[in-house]
Amino acid sequence: MNKYLVIGNPIEHSLSPLIHNYWIKKNNIKAIYDKKKLSSDDLKDIIIKIRDKNINGVNVTVPFKKEIIPYLDKLTLDAEATQSVNTILLTTEGKIVGHNTDIGGFENAIKDTGYNLSGKKILILGSGGVTASIIFALYNMKVSSITLTNRTKTKAEYLQNFFNSIAEKKNGWNEIKVVEWGEMPEFDMIINTTSVGLNNDDNLNLDFSKIGKNKFFYDVIYNPKETNFLRQGKDLGNKTENGKKMFIFQAVEAFKIWHNIQPEINEEVNNLLD
Ligand code: ATR
Repeated sequence: MNKYLVIGNPIEHSLSPLIHNYWIKKNNIKAIYDKKKLSSDDLKDIIIKIRDKNINGVNVTVPFKKEIIPYLDKLTLDAEATQSVNTILLTTEGKIVGHNTDIGGFENAIKDTGYNLSGKKILILGSGGVTASIIFALYNMKVSSITLTNRTKTKAEYLQNFFNSIAEKKNGWNEIKVVEWGEMPEFDMIINTTSVGLNNDDNLNLDFSKIGKNKFFYDVIYNPKETNFLRQGKDLGNKTENGKKMFIFQAVEAFKIWHNIQPEINEEVNNLLD
């Protein structure tokens, strides 16, 4: 029986086992997908278990997506560019490879909404673990500008410098701007990548009263389904979307990497996560 695992800390909330075990069963694969809470000291042991084929694949979540990198043999271009790994595979040649399926997850989730990002102005709230993957996906989808704002400005500036050094070499990648936390520059789409909203009563305390009409409020959080951020956006008459589809699509990509099968997103999958 092959064994797959999601590692993180905390991990209790992770819905990855639900969705992967559903697809494993549906596709008659002899495998089990489990979750494990780890500390940094345990990362080395996990890698040894992968090398010894005691574990066949691993999903990595907060706070280890970057910390795991030194233990891996190789990174895909996406994982390298974002310094973020959420899926690990042992190749048939015995190499442990780090993938980033959050980028594709976000891209497919946005495509699924029918919203065309090309030429749009984006404001990103937060500069944590998932933000780099979102920025990378936004560049892929040819947005016209990206502005970052984070409570701790230095973290936004770190991402700004990191991406601006890449942007210099890429056609159509405009430089990222950083504004003070609380400032509201003009945007078409605003994306919450902070952890504010995970608790129902969390509030970003930002003033959206002067943002204008027809904006798109996107939250990477999917549990709860509607954060205060999304509720505020909706009450002001804007389009909103939570992170559920992004979560499903990143899992689809991971499943394909491990099992070489395109899993189906059906009603049951959608309901599993509610
Ligand atoms: P990490 O910072 O370890 O990568 P994360 O969960 O990936 O953790 O990211 C948390 C994000 O939510 C950060 O952007 C964080 O802002 P800081 O960099 O200032 O910590 C943001 N965040 C968390 N609590 C917040 C709050 N009360 N108000 C505003 N932003 C908050």
